Amino acid sequence: MKTRITELLGIEYPIICGGMFQVGRAELAAAVSEAGGLGIITSKTQGTPERLRAEIRRVKELTNKPFGVNLNLFPSTTPTPNEEFIQVMIEEGVNIVETSGRSPEPLMKLLKDNDFIVMHKVVGPRYAKTAERLGVDAVIVVGNETGGHPGMSDVGTLVILPRVVDSVSIPVIAGGGFADGRGLVSALAFGAEGVLMGTRFMATKEAPIHENVKNWMVEADETNTIVVQRSIGSPSRVAVNTVSEEVDRLEKKGATLEELIPFITGQRSKDVYFEGNIDGGIWSCGQSVGLVDKVLSVEELIQQMVAEAKRSMKFIQERVL
Ligand SMILES: Cc1cc2nc3c(=O)[nH]c(=O)nc-3n(C[C@H](O)[C@H](O)[C@H](O)COP(=O)(O)O)c2cc1C
Repeated sequence: MKTRITELLGIEYPIICGGMFQVGRAELAAAVSEAGGLGIITSKTQGTPERLRAEIRRVKELTNKPFGVNLNLFPSTTPTPNEEFIQVMIEEGVNIVETSGRSPEPLMKLLKDNDFIVMHKVVGPRYAKTAERLGVDAVIVVGNETGGHPGMSDVGTLVILPRVVDSVSIPVIAGGGFADGRGLVSALAFGAEGVLMGTRFMATKEAPIHENVKNWMVEADETNTIVVQRSIGSPSRVAVNTVSEEVDRLEKKGATLEELIPFITGQRSKDVYFEGNIDGGIWSCGQSVGLVDKVLSVEELIQQMVAEAKRSMKFIQERVL
């Protein structure tokens, strides 16, 4: 498979595992890169530059293939040392970043002076155009189905993807709702040059999270997610559980940020991911959970996607066109 994204990143298949807070660690990122896609570790999970350095080294022990680091630009109560994270990446020879949450403008000079490949995650054409003007190399567009932050517009991937493809000339990566080879072919048909998945990669053998979460995902369907935090301007698609239902109830009766914080703090997701307590806190999960029917190894998942993509193409060519 050859697109501007496989060429830009030096990967075999146009399949990327998006950065995932707490979940996007060395084991998963290395497995995705090793299987021919692009794995991404999250700097925010590591917290400090030295811990990020150690995590980068763990990935390098597991694969010689390219991988990236997610830089979190979301507003935060504690400052995120992104410049220092970049410095560590330069020293460790990692030159692919995924940025998300806010405009990457303040970091662009540092990144471009050091020859980084920058992929910026957006939720619509306006942001994609700004990112292109700032000099990013590719945009990732996520529609409303996505796990994590879908943006405020509620527009699904089916419409927002071609809107973004039509609005920029840099390569576009499609995210939000992709989980199999049919999705990959459809993204390519829309003019995207790769897919980025989060939810589907959580239900893999290598994802460093508790079995209970993976098993819940196999049992769950596409109706088992909910968007919370809209009332505070930071919508987030998460798994339905007792905590997200409580947040939804509180938001509907006009709760303040202070009232919501004990329920929405990201720290509580550790109880879910590492202790296997499904109701431990809110945790990001996209509608594509409805397409997860088995926990596979990352290699099996990617090979299965490639085979399905070929079957889909054959079906269209032989039976439709
Ligand atoms: C558990 C989880 C954590 C995530 N954490 C982040 C994050 O820290 N930064 C980020 O840019 N995106 C994050 N995302 C979004 C993913 O990188 C990706 O854009 C999204 O999962 C794609 O949609 P999908 O879930 O439908 O595959 C997260 C998604 C999930 C499921």
